[in-house]
Amino acid sequence: MILEARALHKKFGALTAVDEVSFALRPGELVGLLGPNGAGKTTTVSMVCGTVTPDRGAVLVDGEPIAGDTDVKKRRIGIVPQELALYDELSAMANLQFFGALYALPKSVLRNAIDDALTLVGLADRARDAVRTFSGGMKRRLNLAAGLLHDPDILLLDEPTVGVDPQSRNAIFDNIETLKRRGKALLYTTHYMEEAERLADRIVIIDRGRVILDDTLAGIEQQFGRGDGSRVSLESAFLALTGRELRD
Ligand SMILES: Nc1ncnc2c1ncn2[C@@H]1O[C@H](COP(=O)(O)OP(=O)(O)OP(=O)(O)O)[C@@H](O)[C@H]1O
Ligand SMILES: [Mg+2]
Repeated sequence: MILEARALHKKFGALTAVDEVSFALRPGELVGLLGPNGAGKTTTVSMVCGTVTPDRGAVLVDGEPIAGDTDVKKRRIGIVPQELALYDELSAMANLQFFGALYALPKSVLRNAIDDALTLVGLADRARDAVRTFSGGMKRRLNLAAGLLHDPDILLLDEPTVGVDPQSRNAIFDNIETLKRRGKALLYTTHYMEEAERLADRIVIIDRGRVILDDTLAGIEQQFGRGDGSRVSLESAFLALTGRELRD
């Protein structure tokens, strides 16, 4: 396991946002972290990348717990945040130069990393244009590029397709499949069941801060399917587990 979240727990005042959440990622594997709005997905991702401090629990990289903000193991992790983290007035290139500088990469390494990331997300020909001229989908793709500059082995993607047109969504899916083939371990947060069904090797469903299911699609099929070969959707698995519809 390249990444392990062990019994992560977080309260905000009286609200338990994340309740003993555990899961693990292997290299080249995509785990879909699914759950309705407010389930605790972003809080979980934030604890894995270290922007939120857990009340209890641990995050391990290659079996070793991350010890504080300055631990070099943190550099193995990249984050593509749910809230776009981009400067509208700056060009795509300048945005990536800014984020790259935060990782203190040598100039030539950063230059190559920016070229590679822009090519991967299909924005190389828009590198000099201000981000404010970009569509929602292009901004999402640039947000993804920004998470890749330090070549992390583990990438956390928090709702990377929210508000994008179908064409950009497919482009993002292709990018993600490329990253998977390169052996990256991916945690993909979404509340779109069909995205998880398409991309994920394993599915972790969280509801009200708790993991209610952690299995492969085949395993879920076995557990919730009718046994007649017809496919069971994650939607119906969620309904069977909670008595509620996932969509709100
Ligand atoms: N900084 C905070 N202070 C107080 N409450 C918070 C904070 N961050 C999150 N919460 C609460 O914790 C719960 C989980 O929020 P979180 O953002 O992790 O959910 P989510 O699954 O990412 O939802 P969404 O699908 O809407 O992105 C929610 O009830 C939310 O209101
Ligand atoms: Mg969220």
